[in-house]
Amino acid sequence: MKKDVRKAVIAGNWKMNKTPSQAAELAKELRETVAGADCDVIVCVPFVDLQAVSEAVKGSNIHVGAQNCHFEKSGAFTGEISADMLAEMGVEYVIIGHSERRTYFGETDVTVNLRTKAALAAGLKVILCVGEYLEQREQGITAEIVSMQTKIALAGISAEELKNVIIAYEPVWAIGTGKTATSDQAEEVCAEIRAVVCGLYGEAAAEGLTIQYGGSMNAGNADELLSKVNVDGGLIGGASLKAADFGKIVAAASK
Ligand code: PGA
Repeated sequence: MKKDVRKAVIAGNWKMNKTPSQAAELAKELRETVAGADCDVIVCVPFVDLQAVSEAVKGSNIHVGAQNCHFEKSGAFTGEISADMLAEMGVEYVIIGHSERRTYFGETDVTVNLRTKAALAAGLKVILCVGEYLEQREQGITAEIVSMQTKIALAGISAEELKNVIIAYEPVWAIGTGKTATSDQAEEVCAEIRAVVCGLYGEAAAEGLTIQYGGSMNAGNADELLSKVNVDGGLIGGASLKAADFGKIVAAASK
């Protein structure tokens, strides 16, 4: 890992799991498990768990994130949460454009861009997700899809703001399926994303950008995936719900 130029970051995406009391319990367990980490550790939890998890990890090396935010500052958007609301709670990160939001909740590249801009304006750091569907990979258009998603998501974002962005490459066919991309596949697309960012912002910005892989990363395959030069960390779903497994992934990223 190029730790001299960029940070290794392991982020848990708890998705729609854990009530506040269960979340606090897991957070306390994680606090012990990842105490010696030599990488950044984030847990992205459901909105209603943010308070309990923030309290449970206070004074530890665990950073807290949400899993989405709306792009307007306030208004008649029933059921939505603004970036300012998260920032005032002390939340540091937010996942934007996860494929489950894109697939089930009508998220588009354009709304991903709007949400990213709103989150950065509120002072949040963004974990921006991109990734292709299986049919797109089979058609041989993975690079085009991921590069288009990256370009649209980053439209209007300054080089200074980019320092608060992590990109997560998550092939949709690998998420929650147990089918991990091979380390070569992950490396190839993460390198492609870095090249796109280089074209937009120049080499220094691209070299400094943390790019994670996500999609069935677990305690068994993390070492191999993280050994790739362009894979700077992971966005972990299923395996982030078990402290021991998450701890092993964090340990792999700490080497
Ligand atoms: P998974 O999810 O690790 O369960 O595949 C990853 C993600 O959706 O971020």
